[in-house]
Amino acid sequence: MDILVIGSGGREHAICWALAKSRHKPKIFCAPGNAGIASLAELVDVMSDDISGLVNWAKTYNPGLVIVGPEIPLALGLTDQLTKEGFLVFGPTKDGAQMEASKDFTKQLLMSSLVPTARSVTFTDSIKAQLYLKKQNAPIVIKADGLAAGKGVTVCETMAQAQLAVEEAMDKKVFGDAGAKVVIEEFLEGEEASILAFTDGETIIPMVTAQDHKRVFDGDQGPNTGGMGAYSPAPVVTPEMNEFILEKILKPTVSALRKRGIIYKGVLYAGLMITAKGPKVIEYNCRFGDPETEVVLPRLKTDFVEICLAVAKGELSKIKIEWDERPTACVVMASHGYPGSYSKGKVIEGLEKAAELPDTYVFHAGTAKEDGKIVSNGGRVLCVTGIGDTIEKAIETAYQGVRTIQMDGVHYRKDIGWRAINR
Ligand SMILES: Nc1ncnc2c1ncn2[C@@H]1O[C@H](COP(=O)(O)OP(=O)(O)OP(=O)(O)O)[C@@H](O)[C@H]1O
Ligand SMILES: [Mg+2]
Repeated sequence: MDILVIGSGGREHAICWALAKSRHKPKIFCAPGNAGIASLAELVDVMSDDISGLVNWAKTYNPGLVIVGPEIPLALGLTDQLTKEGFLVFGPTKDGAQMEASKDFTKQLLMSSLVPTARSVTFTDSIKAQLYLKKQNAPIVIKADGLAAGKGVTVCETMAQAQLAVEEAMDKKVFGDAGAKVVIEEFLEGEEASILAFTDGETIIPMVTAQDHKRVFDGDQGPNTGGMGAYSPAPVVTPEMNEFILEKILKPTVSALRKRGIIYKGVLYAGLMITAKGPKVIEYNCRFGDPETEVVLPRLKTDFVEICLAVAKGELSKIKIEWDERPTACVVMASHGYPGSYSKGKVIEGLEKAAELPDTYVFHAGTAKEDGKIVSNGGRVLCVTGIGDTIEKAIETAYQGVRTIQMDGVHYRKDIGWRAINR
């Protein structure tokens, strides 16, 4: 079977890696991929947001399955177009992708199905939004409704920050149309956790839990990023809480979507805040998380091709998914200056040596090949995962891999997993 994977980051490298382990020995293609994915898949020179280019490629090469990695092609309706042409797709339709592409859509769906989430009000009029803020207290959270590459959310410590965030999103349009509508949300106190789940619109199977590190610097300091590292499991989510999350959050969400005529096939990624009053939904993403995927898939024991096919065919109830008990941790190696401006083209040394280390996986996030050398080609460049009998061992294994790799000006956090160790 031929499988086409859409995307070019660490998430997609981990997806291709898990597919390559399958007993079905699929021929893997990846559009557009990266220098690391090139060792597992044939790269396809079509960008992940070039919907007609991807549909034409599929019509020419006829893959048995298409797996869509990032949210943008999903929000642009790639799945709708491919299924219309008769292809099997792992990833939600445009309507389903609203779970990420519209914060307001998700809030309305959650509140109408009594799924625990932060109280919020949505505004399309900035004057009314500013008037509303006058009656609120800080901290408070301002969210651009649409996709904003992980930069659309401002956690405001002061009311002045909140007023500025509304003005920037709605009046100055710093996020374009994504900020025309704004969700103003109560601030939730607690610890975050990521719950990714496979669903075919009927059956929903949560994956092992994980926790990301959003801030760029140690101690959770500095600006938010796409994620600087993760570990799995997230001990903050107890087995009882896991049960609650499945029964009171994930299942009601999937059935609320069904009531709206949306049969959601793919990954539902619940971003949760574990508050003193229990887990509450901060957001949903409509795809595998990055870097969560790089710690979750290395723990997967069940054949990944079979899971993805079952999701796309609506046969997930026939599959029992098993996981490796051993914890994992991953560390993201980023370019100097990320998430601000950074330069590309830095030569990366030590990758072969790192690939030989036991219990270590090096996933490429932003790399390219230049004159036969692997060079940096993004803000997040590599994601090094370690697996071990204890979380401490997994973290140490990941850092051993990181120390084996050299790149000019590389930045990585030194404290990935600190919450798991200091419990
Ligand atoms: N209600 C809230 N209370 C406290 N913190 C919040 C709240 N909502 C969001 N945050 C913080 O802001 C971060 C980003 O918010 P959110 O996940 O909604 O945005 P996003 O841009 O979609 O992020 P991502 O790139 O992870 O998908 C969260 O990880 C959390 O740290
Ligand atoms: Mg999001």
